[in-house]
Amino acid sequence: MAQMNKRPKHGPNARMMTEKPESIKKSLRFIWGYLKHRKGLLVLALIMVGLNTVAFLAGTNYLEPIIDNFLDPRTATGTVQQRLSGLASGMVTLGCIYSVTVVSSYLQNRFMVKVSQRTINEVRRDLFHHLQELPVRYFDSRSTGDVMSRFTNDVDTLNEALQNGLTTLFSSSITVTGILVLMVRRSFLLTFLAVCSVPLTLLATGRIMKISRRFFQEQQSCLGNVNAYIEEIMSGQKVVKTFCYEDRAREEFYRRNEALRRAAQLAQGYGGMMMPMSKNINNVIYAAVATVGGLMTIYGTMTVGSLVVFMQLVQNFGRPINELTQQYNTVVTALAGTERIASVMEEHLEDEEERKREALPEVIAEGGLYSLVNDGNGEFFWENGKERRRVCGEVRFADVTFGYTEKKRILNGISLWAKPGQKIAFVGSTGAGKTTIINLLTGFYQIDGGSITIDGIDISRIKNDDLRNAMSVVLQDTHLFTATIADNIRYARPAATDEEVVQAAKLASADPFIRRLPKGYDTVIEGDGGNLSQGQRQLLNIARAALADAPILILDEATSSVDTRTERHIERGLDALMEGRTTFVIAHRLSTVRNSKAILVMEQGQIIERGSHEDLLAQKGRYYQLYTGAAELD
Ligand SMILES: Nc1ncnc2c1ncn2[C@@H]1O[C@H](COP(=O)(O)OP(=O)(O)O)[C@@H](O)[C@H]1O
Ligand SMILES: [Mg+2]
Repeated sequence: MAQMNKRPKHGPNARMMTEKPESIKKSLRFIWGYLKHRKGLLVLALIMVGLNTVAFLAGTNYLEPIIDNFLDPRTATGTVQQRLSGLASGMVTLGCIYSVTVVSSYLQNRFMVKVSQRTINEVRRDLFHHLQELPVRYFDSRSTGDVMSRFTNDVDTLNEALQNGLTTLFSSSITVTGILVLMVRRSFLLTFLAVCSVPLTLLATGRIMKISRRFFQEQQSCLGNVNAYIEEIMSGQKVVKTFCYEDRAREEFYRRNEALRRAAQLAQGYGGMMMPMSKNINNVIYAAVATVGGLMTIYGTMTVGSLVVFMQLVQNFGRPINELTQQYNTVVTALAGTERIASVMEEHLEDEEERKREALPEVIAEGGLYSLVNDGNGEFFWENGKERRRVCGEVRFADVTFGYTEKKRILNGISLWAKPGQKIAFVGSTGAGKTTIINLLTGFYQIDGGSITIDGIDISRIKNDDLRNAMSVVLQDTHLFTATIADNIRYARPAATDEEVVQAAKLASADPFIRRLPKGYDTVIEGDGGNLSQGQRQLLNIARAALADAPILILDEATSSVDTRTERHIERGLDALMEGRTTFVIAHRLSTVRNSKAILVMEQGQIIERGSHEDLLAQKGRYYQLYTGAAELD
């Protein structure tokens, strides 16, 4: 299988911290992918922003005729009475103009909140959806905190930028243009003076921006580190306490927290320098314009009204530029966050692999990928476009090699053949590669060489979901969800009746302890089953697998935490469960695998002995040593 050898290797961390134009483009493209679904609202919001700005400028502009016609005795005409009534009607007009700004800014905010909240909602939804489709490999190589911060920090910063950044960007640019037009119409000389502030500000802030951008990314990355550590230590509190690790955990936290402070201080410090800097430049310019303008009115080349309006414009000219620089921080942080979100979204999907495989010419020629179908009478079939065969549960590994990374090979030439209904056991030291074999059989990871077939079908030709549906698996790591016990067992088959759930629990010997709980099957399990013993959790996991009722059963150290008496108890249930199913058992206690059809002894990724219990004892090899106590596991 050529396509199996080319499995993608991901770098240790798919996110890139360097902000290149390409990545900005990528972020923008990503956001636009969402914004374009609500173009209407966005346009409405921008129209409101435009209206708001125009009304504001019109209001400022209207001050000139009011001052010149009715207030300044040098230019005003008419009687005092006429001037008073003129002033009054001018004020009313001004009031109307300003109420437009109030209404439009209210509406603009409402529309923009809608746009951003809906966008964020979709981003979160897609991110969650996507994460669920990612292969196990992705999560095995990352901390939960790191993945979590895509949802928390990165989504938050994006939200902030969408809600305020976008409109500010738009309103600031039209304000600047409008102000320029109004200024030039009044005095070219003064405009020139006022505009001098722009290159000065840009020159001063440009350098700071460049530096602070780097610190902002650093800050986000440090924040991720801090969060990941909190998550890790909180979820491992028991271990932390057992080993009195608190002080060292505290130290490590201080270190990361300190790194965050340093990065944040630099980022915010540089970011915060921009505002006062550009403000100061603006103040100097304002004073210069006021002086020259004052002289011009004294010499009569400019009316007082015109100067008042001009000064207003100069003052407001700095504001949008300030806002732009202010929003810059938000936007840069958001772009960096968005890029990380986009990178997650670009991660290789499990499904995608399947789609690719399905599109291969040889797969198409053979009728496409196989699905698992149930004929309704409890019979399962493998089916693709060309054929339909009964699911028997025959599993074959032929010379399988595998490594989690390219550098280190974990499995070396594993071959085995489980006939339908047989019980195959794996024994061997921890780290020998037993769980890895299960990871390959369930398709969590793809093999590097050799082949794995079920009923003669290469598992790469079976759809992932269907491959897993064909197996009831009790994983080595138990995991329970925050839900009732019944629902946790039902996880395997949501449609199962209460009767079936109880039946499965009985099979797993979980029924007695569940009944002793205050609310029985309706007891809510909190925080991954913290209120249950490890053994009880295992029993629930077995009950879950029993309910799944699939042709292949996999038990990876399923009873390792259960006492020997309960284990013997379960064994009867398990024997019933194994009846007619191909079963793979990994067990630490050799007593539990004795009755297997074949026992495979694994060491360092290889099968070193195989045979029935009696065969192996007769061989007087590793198994014999283990069994007689001459050697110990681990
Ligand atoms: N997700 C993983 N990524 C990288 N290496 C792994 C991973 N899981 C297991 N390994 C390595 O593979 C080897 C076999 O592990 P495993 O199959 O879990 O052993 P067993 O189940 O026999 O105790 C170990 O050396 C372990 O370090
Ligand atoms: Mg294991």
